[in-house]
Amino acid sequence: MLHDPNRIYIFDTTLRDGEQVPGCQLSTVEKIEIAKSLEILGVDVIEAGFPISSPGDFQSVLELSKAVREPIICALTRANKGDIDCAAEALKFAKRPRIHTGIGASDNHIKYKFNSNREAILERAVEAVKYAKSFVEDIEFYAEDAGRADNEYLAKMVEAVIEAGATVVNIPDTNGYCLPEQYGEKIRFLKENVKNIDQAIISVHCHNDLGLATANSISGIQNGARQVECTINGIGERAGNTALEEIVMILKTHHSLNFTHKINSKHLFELSGMVSRMMRMPVQANKAIVGKNAFAHSSGIHQDGVLKNRETYEIINPEDVGINQSEIILTARSGRHALNHHLERLGYTIERIDLDQVYERFLTLADGKKEIKDDDILFLMGHETENNYKNGLAIKALKVVCGDHDGPEATVILNYKGKDSEARAKGNGPVDATIKAIEQIIGKSFNIKEFNIHAMHSGSDDVSKVDMRVSSEGKSYKGYGFSTDIVRASANAYIDALNKFV
Ligand code: KIV
Ligand code: ZN
Repeated sequence: MLHDPNRIYIFDTTLRDGEQVPGCQLSTVEKIEIAKSLEILGVDVIEAGFPISSPGDFQSVLELSKAVREPIICALTRANKGDIDCAAEALKFAKRPRIHTGIGASDNHIKYKFNSNREAILERAVEAVKYAKSFVEDIEFYAEDAGRADNEYLAKMVEAVIEAGATVVNIPDTNGYCLPEQYGEKIRFLKENVKNIDQAIISVHCHNDLGLATANSISGIQNGARQVECTINGIGERAGNTALEEIVMILKTHHSLNFTHKINSKHLFELSGMVSRMMRMPVQANKAIVGKNAFAHSSGIHQDGVLKNRETYEIINPEDVGINQSEIILTARSGRHALNHHLERLGYTIERIDLDQVYERFLTLADGKKEIKDDDILFLMGHETENNYKNGLAIKALKVVCGDHDGPEATVILNYKGKDSEARAKGNGPVDATIKAIEQIIGKSFNIKEFNIHAMHSGSDDVSKVDMRVSSEGKSYKGYGFSTDIVRASANAYIDALNKFV
């Protein structure tokens, strides 16, 4: 049945198991947008919804079937005619439709959920598959709570539903109960004890209640399963489902497993953000593959290692998941190597500054802050400006008169080309007057494209931090300044930017 015996089929259920999560509901338009991105990602199957559950879900499956043509579109049902009729109707426009029907297989479900017995449930399972088969060729059967089901009974059920026409048999660890070895053994047991098993694909569908969903799925495919059911960001009921991005990157990282798939991993990060935003479900910072910190290094030893060779502390190239590069986060634990890396990235060269001095000031700042951002480094370097741009511009004196009647007027003494020059100018505010006075001295005007003033902490005696983007003749540079005087901070930022043109 399978052309490539090692081909893993990726079944995405973000829009069904993922969307069941409270607060994650999506409109049909949003679902289509995600489904189109899943199609670009290269998933084999999209579980589009549970049509009987609501008119909205029905509509979404219907519309998605029209909008997405490459992957199989799958609709979930319980093992009854009403659900199956509804799913078949919702799938009527699908190019490659699949009905996903099933019933509980554990004694727990059989007894408490259905108040029934094994024989009756097996009969219902077979009937449901036969009925679904009267609508579409491709039928997936799920044996709910298979993780806790008796293996002998499960094997009997799987054999019967394949006999009835199931093309895929899904063995869900619905409650995330199994250990990887146990789950793998279950799959192997089915492979070895179901006589028609080669007529269907075994699918793994693992929940993450014990944090084992991904490990269990991998164990399942190592033991013979060839379809993995998963969601973007691992979103799903309770603790979630197997995370698609984890499966894909495990398969990519461990070539020795020798499995193939058709996912283009470079879209993973973007799709993760899209799902997180649309479902209003933040991705935890330390989430594998797509978390904010997945490629961020903060300890000095790790930063030094990564800067020497990325592979010292990274087993995945961030570009493979669509992240430009790993991040070296500056904290009080960072060393000179990391600081210098950022200085260079921001356009400062080691010859122009004394790294030891900057590093000391960096540590003082970092001790009071959790994380040092680019702004903070540039702020540190803004402090350097007056000392280091000796051949450029430096403000020697600044006096501004403000008031209600006699409009703002600034007097500036600027060291320009090695000599001090003075100018006075009026403006519509003190900063405007200061900029005009500076421009008089240098004989040229620049465009200020961005201008931000931030208080560092609080209080009227606070230090203000200014950043500005200044442009001229197609070039633009950012300048930074700080002072307890916001006019002086602005002037410093402006001069810092102009010196970069020099
Ligand atoms: O977890 C589960 O058992 C399910 C089935 C409905 C496939 O989501
Ligand atoms: Zn599930």
